[in-house]
Amino acid sequence: MFLNQMTASDLLKRQWTTLGIIMDHLVNNAGIASVFFFEKSTDISKSLPVMDVNFWGSVYPTQFALPHLKKSKGKILVIASVSGWMYGTKISFYGASKAALLNFYDTLRVEFSSSVKITIASPGFTRTAMLRGKQLNMEGSVEINKSKTDAVLHSLPLRSASECAKAIVKGVCRGDRDVTDPSWYGIFYVLKFFIPEIMEMFLHRINIIPRNNMKKNVDVENISATSGIKMS
Ligand SMILES: NC(=O)c1ccc[n+]([C@@H]2O[C@H](COP(=O)([O-])OP(=O)(O)OC[C@H]3O[C@@H](n4cnc5c(N)ncnc54)[C@H](OP(=O)(O)O)[C@@H]3O)[C@@H](O)[C@H]2O)c1
Repeated sequence: MFLNQMTASDLLKRQWTTLGIIMDHLVNNAGIASVFFFEKSTDISKSLPVMDVNFWGSVYPTQFALPHLKKSKGKILVIASVSGWMYGTKISFYGASKAALLNFYDTLRVEFSSSVKITIASPGFTRTAMLRGKQLNMEGSVEINKSKTDAVLHSLPLRSASECAKAIVKGVCRGDRDVTDPSWYGIFYVLKFFIPEIMEMFLHRINIIPRNNMKKNVDVENISATSGIKMS
């Protein structure tokens, strides 16, 4: 269920408070990918849910959880992405939504000081439904389209979801401000800073130039009727 203003309020104020549940962690994990060339999009409004889920879907729960987290000296974990700073082709909206998260929670750190700690996790490519091609297409429906992620699957080493989750939980327990998993993605951050043109060439190469031996998989399963974008 998408946590809009009312549902978040109901959950936190009615249920947790009256049941006496102490909230000491908020995990903002919900996310949806979108993978297409910006210039191919004919109706940008169809991509608004990417920002709704990835950015606003973290902001609303944060606002309603804040008084509880202040009381319990709790923590916020934000699942952002390396795509927030490592630009890739076809992920203009997805990357922008993650970049917005990074900036937003960096700003909240300044505002909260030590009252509520924030860990921002930036996973790299991880084997989950998202990398199996689950994404919001440019027509605005959620589908599983394996061909969308084939380029990634053939070019970079992938992390398992459990390895990634363990690294993130360890980071939160240590009180880390940021967790990049796997940590070797950090090299891209340095490269982007010092030699952005070479970094762009590299990303262009791994994402756009198709591999000769890559089998194109065009299976598309439209799942918007059952478990697509949830808005209430
Ligand atoms: N996989 C990667 O390579 C990768 C890399 C970097 C960052 N991330 C981030 O990791 C997080 C988890 O994604 P994942 O890789 O585990 O993919 P996933 O398996 O597709 O999980 C996405 C999660 O977001 C939830 N969600 C999607 N739309 C929602 C909505 N409108 N309202 C409420 N919940 C919604 C899904 O709930 P349902 O299952 O109920 O639909 C699911 O729990 C995301 O923020 C993603 O951006 C993933």
